[in-house]
Formats: sequence, structure tokens, C-alpha cells
Amino acid sequence: MIRKTLGRTGLEVTQLGYGSMGLRGPRTWGVRVVSDAAADEFLNLVLDSGINFIDTSPDYGISEQRIGQYIGARRSEYILATKCGCSYTQHEQHLEIDHIWEADVVRRNLETSLRRLQTDYLDILQFHGGDAETLQRAGLIDLLLDFRAQGMIQFLGVSSSLPHLSGMIDLGVFDTFQIPYSCLAPQHEALINQAAKTGAGIIIRGGIAQGGPEAEIQRPALNDVWNKANLDELLPAGMRRAELILRYTLSHPHCHTTIVGTCNPEHLAENLAAAQKGSLPQELRFQIDERIAAIEG
Ligand SMILES: NC(=O)c1ccc[n+]([C@@H]2O[C@H](COP(=O)([O-])OP(=O)(O)OC[C@H]3O[C@@H](n4cnc5c(N)ncnc54)[C@H](OP(=O)(O)O)[C@@H]3O)[C@@H](O)[C@H]2O)c1
Repeated sequence: MIRKTLGRTGLEVTQLGYGSMGLRGPRTWGVRVVSDAAADEFLNLVLDSGINFIDTSPDYGISEQRIGQYIGARRSEYILATKCGCSYTQHEQHLEIDHIWEADVVRRNLETSLRRLQTDYLDILQFHGGDAETLQRAGLIDLLLDFRAQGMIQFLGVSSSLPHLSGMIDLGVFDTFQIPYSCLAPQHEALINQAAKTGAGIIIRGGIAQGGPEAEIQRPALNDVWNKANLDELLPAGMRRAELILRYTLSHPHCHTTIVGTCNPEHLAENLAAAQKGSLPQELRFQIDERIAAIEG
């Protein structure tokens, strides 16, 4: 398994990481629900496969509880990143999610996450969105620095995207940035490079573009990009679309880890095999870039 240094954190992370949003359980959102038994089996499989980076969030239903319950005893085997600024209300049939930039919320998130994840420290605590001015005004960056001084977290991160990402980078305080990116949605490319220049670690999300046009759950906006660019024409014989998308992401020099979210053991095996093959050939990447640029105008 290819490992990269997660920027200035110095953490050695597997380039294929795991995003646990799919383990959110019943009465949340979406159409699929992963059972407790399947979540237990799957999380252990993720670690047995050698993946050592897991991303979660307080507002991913029971994802955090499951990580604590099923692999908490293996805590030394993985680097754990969760989020804060998350407010959520469990309704009868769905989970209502909001982000509130107040110290009480962030403090409560950390306490709850440590308890649910059955750990006494987080490797990375990430703001789940927000903007630089609000975080500063509310004293939340100082709050995270205080958590770090107390040993409850090791590094400060943020999960961000346009239009707020640039301001977050300018703050110069974050050890990691979680940023959406794939060949079908390359809009954050320049900001990834800018964030990496600060020495921060880069965590990519959406790196398999939700599985592309072969996925069980279809994402029309991304599939349109694939189809308009006619990427099937470039797909080497025997390569699945998801492999092409994932290996394109892994080719990015600043993709230290990409937290692919899957709950399907076959997809996990495919993604591991794709990650082992590593970067796409440069010529193929160039052709993909040309086609995507052409449809973006
Ligand atoms: N704002 C934020 O901070 C934010 C927002 C969204 C996500 N995230 C984090 O990023 C992680 C990943 O994000 P994401 O789930 O949006 O994007 P993603 O990893 O690009 O897509 C996940 C989807 O891809 C499918 N998939 C995975 N491997 C596949 C394969 N080999 N073939 C076909 N389909 C495949 C999965 O379905 P199967 O289960 O069927 O494999 C799942 O539906 C999340 O789990 C979460 O940790 C953060």
C-alpha cells in the first residue's frame, strides 16, 4: 500500500484512506442502510487491508459509534480524523444537520466524538465547513489550539471548498485541508496546490467521483461530465471507470490520502487493487485533462 506523508503533520498515511459516511445507519438520509454486523465486518476489513486513515464526523449518524465499537480496540492501527461545528437533530425518520460556529457546539462535538470513538485523542479535528472570518471571530481556532495544548487533538484541519477555501488557506493555521477533487470535478485543483504550498496535508474527498457512471447510486451531474467528455473512448481495455477515476485522483502529487467511501467489500478490493497500480500513465491523464477542459469551455 502506497503511503504518503500528510504534510507537516508528519503522519504516514495510506494514499487510499476510508471515508465512513456510508456507515451512518438508519433514519439518516439516502437509500442504503448498512447493518451493524456488516459495519463491524467492513471496518475490520478496512484495517485488515492495510488502510490506516479514517475520516468521520459527528453528523454521520452512528458512524462514529460504529468506529468506536467495532475497531476502537485497534485504535493504534489507524489515524483518525473527525469534524466539528456540527449540530444535528435525530427525527423519527431522518437526521437534520446544521453547522453552527459556536464554542459550545465545538466543545460538545469533541467530547461526544471522543466518547463515541472510544479514544482519548483525535489525530485531526476538522472544521466541517465554515469561513475564515466566522471561525476567527468566534474564537474557534484558539479553541482548537487549546484542545491541542491539552492533548485531546494532535492537529487542526478543515474540510472546505469554494468559495471559502481560499480564506481558510490564508489563515495559515491548518495542518490539513479536506478538499473535493476528481477528474470529473477538478475545480479545486489550483486551491489544492495552494493549500499544499503552505506545508499542510491534503485529504481528498469525492476522489472516486461517487463511483462514476457504473455506481449503484447514480450522480447525474458527474455522469454528465463523463459522458460529455466521452471518457469511455479513453478507457483502457479491462479497466473499470471507477479505477480510471480513482487512479487519476491518486496521480495528483498532493493527494496524500483520498478517503473513498464504500461499504461494498468488492469495491474495496477493487479500489485497493487500483491503488496498488498507482498513478495513471501521464499521457492518459493529459488526454483526460484535455477533454474535461474542452467541455468546461
Ligand atoms: N463536507 C465534508 O466534509 C464531506 C462531504 C462529503 C463526504 N465527506 C467525506 O468524504 C468521504 C467520501 O465522500 P463521498 O462518499 O462523497 O465520495 P466518494 O468516495 O467519491 O464516493 C463514494 C461512493 O462511491 C461508491 N464507490 C466506491 N468505490 C466504488 C467502486 N470501486 N465502484 C463503484 N462505486 C464505488 C460508493 O458506493 P459503494 O458503497 O457501493 O461502493 C459510494 O456510493 C465520505 O465518506 C466522508 O468521510 C466529507
